[in-house]
Amino acid sequence: MMKSETIAVKRHSFLYRILHWFIVLQVLLLLSSGFAVSEYIPLAWISRGAARSLHILMGLTWTGTITFFIYYFMMSGEYKWFGVSKIAPAFDFFIHEARSFVKGKKVKSPVGYSRDEKKYAEKIVPTEVLAWWGWVSLWTIMVLTGLALLFPESFGFINRLCYAIIPAFSKATAATRFIHLLVSTGMVIYMMIHAYASWTFGMVGSMISGSNEEPVIDLKK
Ligand code: HEM
Ligand code: HEM
Repeated sequence: MMKSETIAVKRHSFLYRILHWFIVLQVLLLLSSGFAVSEYIPLAWISRGAARSLHILMGLTWTGTITFFIYYFMMSGEYKWFGVSKIAPAFDFFIHEARSFVKGKKVKSPVGYSRDEKKYAEKIVPTEVLAWWGWVSLWTIMVLTGLALLFPESFGFINRLCYAIIPAFSKATAATRFIHLLVSTGMVIYMMIHAYASWTFGMVGSMISGSNEEPVIDLKK
């Protein structure tokens, strides 16, 4: 295996990029409208009624967008780099990264493109697998708790589960609402780490233009 030169390749399809930035926009609107209805962190930039309508409209639209995103992620083949079987090796790599960081050593990226086969030999740094499953977990909690607040009768089990986790509240939906808020602040932090990592690894350009300069891995050599 030889690894020296780089090649400009298409990294993300147009639809993938549109969906990514559309999700970012929707999450920003959800956060700002969510905090405008919040009892704990009230950022009242619009009236509570308007914020609530906007939040519910965006919440339902966003649920649709991420469902389609996940479907597209699987159908386009992107999922193969992130699948469940990649989680354990990703943890190992993360430990390796942490150890190297402490020792002051640089971690070698496994990303490479095979010019002979005209496809990626490896598309992502394994830590990205953890980032992806982190997003899926946060999204699932936000959608389920959001739907439980909107339709408490149909999603009673979510409210009961939240109440079991935090029984200090006077009613179940109050516990759900608090978890919804807590995880939304978690999302703000996660988003900042994700944006910072994408920026420092020089990946933002490829999420805009679609292409990236990748190291060539010549599999036949
Ligand atoms: C990224 C996704 C989301 C974020 C960041 C977010 C954020 C928030 C925040 C901060 C609150 C205020 C909680 C409080 O302090 O009282 C809230 C309330 C609420 N959210 Fe979300 N939310 C998201 C997704 C959703 C979804 C998908 C739905 C439903 C489809 C939803 C439905 C609701 C409802 C019904 C309320 C309560 C509004 C009220 O009682 O006036 N949210 N959300
Ligand atoms: C709510 C905000 C965001 C969400 C939900 C989100 C979600 C995602 C997801 C699910 C992926 C695919 C999995 C992965 O490669 O980790 C991804 C990739 C990516 N995101 Fe975000 N993202 C958000 C914000 C941002 C921001 C603000 C930036 C840039 C400043 C950014 C830059 C990127 C880049 C460059 C990639 C592709 C990494 C690669 O080429 O492998 N994202 N994002």
